[in-house]
Amino acid sequence: MFYIILLQCLGVAPVFSMTAVTKDLLTPLVEYGEGCGYMSCPIMGENVLNVHVVPSTHAELGYTRTFYQHFTGYDDIYDHSKVNMKNILDAVITALWAHEERKFTFSDMPYFFHWWKNRDMTVKRMIYQLLRQGRLYFVGGGWSMSDEATTSYHAIIDHFTYNLRKINATFLDCGRPLVTWQADVYGHSKEFASLMAQMGFDGHFINPISYEDELSRMKSKSLEFIWRGSDDLGCIGP
Ligand SMILES: *[C@@H]1O[C@H](CO)[C@@H](O)[C@H](O)[C@H]1NC(C)=O
Repeated sequence: MFYIILLQCLGVAPVFSMTAVTKDLLTPLVEYGEGCGYMSCPIMGENVLNVHVVPSTHAELGYTRTFYQHFTGYDDIYDHSKVNMKNILDAVITALWAHEERKFTFSDMPYFFHWWKNRDMTVKRMIYQLLRQGRLYFVGGGWSMSDEATTSYHAIIDHFTYNLRKINATFLDCGRPLVTWQADVYGHSKEFASLMAQMGFDGHFINPISYEDELSRMKSKSLEFIWRGSDDLGCIGP
């Protein structure tokens, strides 16, 4: 105990300070139908077209506004826009709480953790429950949705390591992103895809892709595909 307090005084995040109570709050109550990850996937209908609607938000970390401008909505450029991350998170959690069939996908973790840090235990317990039920889930896994063209692989590995550790230390397994999420990134690289595969993600969602490519993939129904990102590492299948 003393050891942990000492670390906090030094300003080092204690990664093993999670209490037994918090661990309990993050363990799905299977007997009450709770389950996170793939356990909470909707049941697919047979012989029908299954359409997945994924409510999510996209916060453009570092794009045109500072972190705090985007978080609070207060800045000189957009004249105190009502669109801000704090409102979005407050509203989303309220909306999720109102209807148990609602789900939300979130990827912009710096905003989430800043919001989380200032919430009281009532809200935190709501989040634990939503995570246990697989109704709020995190995708992406990185601290940001980094660019894929100019970013060095060191930086990519570092920001993923930082955020995945932080998610695990705060929310354990129910917070673990299972897929990556590169939405609105200007181009995609096979190196990035290869790194994501090596980090153990099950899927990699990318957007946008070139219009020509998208059109031909829509026609040939191949928008979902296996991307062999590395020429050197092994792959499954022929
Ligand atoms: C996640 O956190 C738990 C509890 O702190 C720890 O036991 C576990 O090793 C962590 N997992 C990873 C992959 O770091």
